[in-house]
Amino acid sequence: MSEMKKAVWITGANSGIGKSITYQFSSNNICCIASARREKALIKMKEEAIKVSNNIETFPLDVSNTNEISKVSKKILREFDVDCLINNAGVTTFTTAENHSHKDVSEIIQTNLIGAIGTITSLLPHFKKRGGGIIINVLSVAAKKTFQNSSVYSASKAGLLAYSNVLREEVRQYNIKVINVLPGATRTPIWSSEMLNEYASQMMSPEDVAKFIYQLYSIDYNLVPEEIILRPIKGDL
Ligand SMILES: NC(=O)c1ccc[n+]([C@@H]2O[C@H](COP(=O)([O-])OP(=O)(O)OC[C@H]3O[C@@H](n4cnc5c(N)ncnc54)[C@H](OP(=O)(O)O)[C@@H]3O)[C@@H](O)[C@H]2O)c1
Repeated sequence: MSEMKKAVWITGANSGIGKSITYQFSSNNICCIASARREKALIKMKEEAIKVSNNIETFPLDVSNTNEISKVSKKILREFDVDCLINNAGVTTFTTAENHSHKDVSEIIQTNLIGAIGTITSLLPHFKKRGGGIIINVLSVAAKKTFQNSSVYSASKAGLLAYSNVLREEVRQYNIKVINVLPGATRTPIWSSEMLNEYASQMMSPEDVAKFIYQLYSIDYNLVPEEIILRPIKGDL
């Protein structure tokens, strides 16, 4: 295992916060395993990054498909010594609880909650074997604060928060850090163009969120930031 190249696995790496995380890490000479469903967008992201870094490997993956997670993670671990997983892939639809279609409910929970649990469990044996690892979950302020039209999204993020808090206690003994990051509004394509037109200037930039997440990864002393809330200076929208 020691001969394998160390790498950080980032899901949802072809857009928004995940793309910025991939650029931030790879430009700091960290090898990045970049996953998302749209392979073309992953390749485009890698091509754009080549100006600053040649450190990105693409592994397309739909995290809502548990079998696919298992296959892709095995493939990754045959080639790389993953020391950090950044569970960033996420979807939402902004609508009332009453109007959420069953399809949307299932996609949001399957991606944001079950998908993240799937990537975590696919790596735990590897982390234990290598003597440690870092799991960083990109959650949301909506895991804790109430926003209308976000019931299912909030449930998915609060669910992963609760899961990860239990997980942290179970894996401390193996030197595995579990870090929950709860960002507020960030300028990414998850928002509609109408919302971006009106509120983009009040939102955090994905680059700043990525810089912060890189700092969390870089902590090399005996400390784990368990839960961090990030908000734009002027607060929520
Ligand atoms: N922007 C905000 O204001 C904000 C605030 C708090 C938290 N967050 C969280 O930040 C994370 C990133 O969101 P973003 O704002 O950067 O949005 P984004 O630009 O829409 O990015 C979402 C990413 O997730 C990927 N993804 C979606 N479903 C997937 C699936 N089933 N399997 C694999 N990848 C999947 C997308 O790629 P493909 O479509 O190619 O799969 C894309 O790369 C999400 O977890 C979101 O909940 C965002």
